[in-house]
Amino acid sequence: MASDRRDFVKTAVAGALTPLFVPRSAWGANDRIAYGLIGTGNRGGGLNKSFQKVGAQCAALCDVYQPYLAAAQKDSPAGVKTYVNSDELIAQPGLDCIVIATPDHQHLPMLFKALDAGKDVYLEKPLSLSLEQSARMISAVRKRKQVVQVGMQRRSMGFIRQAKKMIEDGAIGKISVVKAIWNWHFALPLDTSPLAGELDWNRFLGAASPRPLEPLRFRWWRGFCDYSGGNMTDQGTHLMDVVQWMTNSGPPHSAVCKGRITNAPGVEVPNVFTAVFEYPEFLATWTLDYRSTYDHDWSIRFQGEEATMVLDRKGLRLFKDAGLSKTPWAQKVSAEPVLDIPETDAPEAHQQNFLDCIRTRQEPNCPVEIAAAAVAGPHMANLSYKEERQVRYERIVQNS
Ligand SMILES: NC(=O)c1ccc[n+]([C@@H]2O[C@H](COP(=O)([O-])OP(=O)(O)OC[C@H]3O[C@@H](n4cnc5c(N)ncnc54)[C@H](O)[C@@H]3O)[C@@H](O)[C@H]2O)c1
Repeated sequence: MASDRRDFVKTAVAGALTPLFVPRSAWGANDRIAYGLIGTGNRGGGLNKSFQKVGAQCAALCDVYQPYLAAAQKDSPAGVKTYVNSDELIAQPGLDCIVIATPDHQHLPMLFKALDAGKDVYLEKPLSLSLEQSARMISAVRKRKQVVQVGMQRRSMGFIRQAKKMIEDGAIGKISVVKAIWNWHFALPLDTSPLAGELDWNRFLGAASPRPLEPLRFRWWRGFCDYSGGNMTDQGTHLMDVVQWMTNSGPPHSAVCKGRITNAPGVEVPNVFTAVFEYPEFLATWTLDYRSTYDHDWSIRFQGEEATMVLDRKGLRLFKDAGLSKTPWAQKVSAEPVLDIPETDAPEAHQQNFLDCIRTRQEPNCPVEIAAAAVAGPHMANLSYKEERQVRYERIVQNS
């Protein structure tokens, strides 16, 4: 490795490692944290296993769809209490915290009820259905002393925390453009056939517009504006959070978005789109294409004048910039990274952080303010897509 490259890498990684956990030895021997889980589907089922893996006790489960509840029960200790009504779960004595993994339209009401009951809360992302909801949720959390962790797990990933330190230390220089991408060739579950098991449809709807049961809306609620901000906020909240975290930015000043619904009959939200976000010092694009496996999965590319940093499911890679040139067409630019840090994190780090904070009463890695800022741009991009106009953050906040 040439010496300037070696120095560059040394500076880039200096001090980048920070401890993520409160050591287990600092805890009491038998004080297991008891949780109640609301929403035992795809994510909730996974969280149930993760929380048990890091030592928490599953004491209650709630779901409006019987087959998911039964599956989660199998992964839980014998005697776990089960509910269809989340109010009853929240009222169960002995729960230290509530884990909420329901569709997005239930996040605000369930968070509020859990807070009113005095519980700490692990709430899945995206935080809210709108900027206005985000503001109400921050205000409700800050009126109390409870610990609330939002489920944006990249906040607890070691290689992303290393990236943060490296960027702060100047590893990539001034950033001009950030590109966030999510590519999957996704066979969406657009199935309208009757559901196999019993569903309490009215509880699923909650405060959303009443309507007769539509199995497609249950299977792919992300496709409908009553229940979510679509793929835009679903994946965008994860990636735009990392963009804003790495660049010390709040929500973007403005957003524009174009999208299309491609080979996805029956849904309301685009599965192919690009949003452009304007930040004071750089531009960011957020592109989702659920019709392609090219450059598969998520990635974020920070293009700086000293180097470009790529973060993705594989880890962190740094590409040194070849520098200014009067003849860029003749420039030799290496495609080899000068640094490659593989992703080796425990998948439960974010849940572990929540449990640690329940004990220490410290702020968790992803508090509500961060989650609100992360989803702000995607909410603005959704408005831009629907209303075919540029959306400015200050105007919406002033008008809400
Ligand atoms: N952090 C992550 O990486 C990640 C990954 C996937 C999903 N999520 C989030 O987790 C949440 C759930 O997503 P999913 O993919 O598991 O969806 P899902 O449809 O598989 O599961 C949602 C569950 O909530 C249940 N539910 C709906 N209304 C309910 C109510 N009123 N009371 C009790 N249960 C109710 C449904 O029956 C279903 O079992 C979403 O907010 C999603 O954004 C986060």
